[in-house]
Amino acid sequence: MEKTGIKHILQMEPQEQELTVQGWIRTKRDSKGIAFLEINDGTSIKNLQAIAEQTLPGYDDIMKRINTGCSVAITGNLIPSPAKGQAVELKVTGIEILGEAPPDYVLQKKRHSFEFLREIAHLRPRTNTFGAVARVRSAMSYAIHSFFQERDFVYIHTPIITGSDCEGAGEMFQVTTLPLEQVPLADGKPDYSQDFFGKKASLTVSGQLEGETYALALKNIYTFGPTFRAENSNTSRHLAEFWMIEPEMAFCDLNLNMDVAEEFLKYIFSYVLEHCGDDMEFFDRWINKGTIANLESIIKSDFKRVTYTEAVEELMKAKADFEFPVKWGTDLQSEHEKYLTEEVYGLPVILTDYPREIKAFYMKMNDDNKTVRAMDVLVPRLGEIIGGSQREDDHDRLEARIKEFGLDPADYWWYLELRKFGGVPHAGFGLGFERVIQFVTGMKNIRDVIPYPRAVNTLEF
Ligand code: 4AD
Ligand code: MG
Repeated sequence: MEKTGIKHILQMEPQEQELTVQGWIRTKRDSKGIAFLEINDGTSIKNLQAIAEQTLPGYDDIMKRINTGCSVAITGNLIPSPAKGQAVELKVTGIEILGEAPPDYVLQKKRHSFEFLREIAHLRPRTNTFGAVARVRSAMSYAIHSFFQERDFVYIHTPIITGSDCEGAGEMFQVTTLPLEQVPLADGKPDYSQDFFGKKASLTVSGQLEGETYALALKNIYTFGPTFRAENSNTSRHLAEFWMIEPEMAFCDLNLNMDVAEEFLKYIFSYVLEHCGDDMEFFDRWINKGTIANLESIIKSDFKRVTYTEAVEELMKAKADFEFPVKWGTDLQSEHEKYLTEEVYGLPVILTDYPREIKAFYMKMNDDNKTVRAMDVLVPRLGEIIGGSQREDDHDRLEARIKEFGLDPADYWWYLELRKFGGVPHAGFGLGFERVIQFVTGMKNIRDVIPYPRAVNTLEF
């Protein structure tokens, strides 16, 4: 199939032969028997300008029926444009209206708030912002696959329905076919032996555990799929359904893990700057001034690497007025993460070696027996975008940690066996896809970088 979109047409040379453009009318300006139509088809943030003159057969009738939002097929000649900002325009010889848009179409030429647009999520991709977000999201997905494929990582499809809680945080959505109005009980508890899988099942919070099993066979793997968390946090950074990229590397320690994470982020940023120029200029101008220069400077800098302990010392001597006070052992809040990246270091920061109590059971214990080989990548404005670690590869220590978290080692028998048969040091991380899109575009709310956000009390569409 050939490229026929407006993105492609705008790059073409003027030509003798007529061509037909399909798209939606963004605006119509007509005066004195000449009409200027801005057409957009979503392939580019840029519109194609079509100019129709009164000599066009049926001109008056067509112009009456053309409104913002209607879909058209317009035929004409591509000619050099005298107007600024566009090399070509279309001199119209024929207009076919494919679908009318009566005046009650909401997306008229005026600005709507993002909150309002969330209520019309089926129409918002037709706006400049949401079209640009969708294109950048698509380009970033491609870049992510390219990064790993170019480095011989194998893409693994880990399951969505699972029997184990990877993060051990109990934030899982249950999956069941038991009748909720009359759940069969055994000893006063739901009798999962009668459920579809014969045991309790949930939507996965992470593909990591299954990913590890493949890394310990194929060396370097990655996953890229949807993950689910029933966190009751109504913030601009949390979704109940989000996409995560999780590379896992065998024969790998925390230092190499950090190197890969840093190289990976810089690769995606460079890719987007190179391939989404028009959309990034739009974000830079209208959504987050300076986002391009900021990404360019991050690509050139070394991320700051500090331990949790050092970071807490910085935070304790900070003059800032934190809502949540910090001391060694507390989990960092986004206000602390922002302070570190924006005020202290002015750069993305990789924090390592967190207290064992605040991190997941699978992270490798340090010799101090107090901290684990964790790494979080924090960025200005958002805080955490990556969480990762070197994994505990000692069978007995891992089993003890599982129990410490109140989890049942029996549920993790296969995960434990990886440490029994041919275990190796291994490490990996998870990048929140929507968080990194937020970072690149500057969009403030995570609900605006995924087509149909799922969050507490949000399930229209
Ligand atoms: O830090 P998290 O919980 O780490 C894991 O899930 C590990 N199993 C990853 C690994 O080592 N393979 O989540 C990873 C990232 C976070 O840094 C954040 O960017 C994103 O996933 N994330 C969310 N994004 C949107 N909404 C939520 N509710 C999120 N929770 C985590
Ligand atoms: Mg985390």
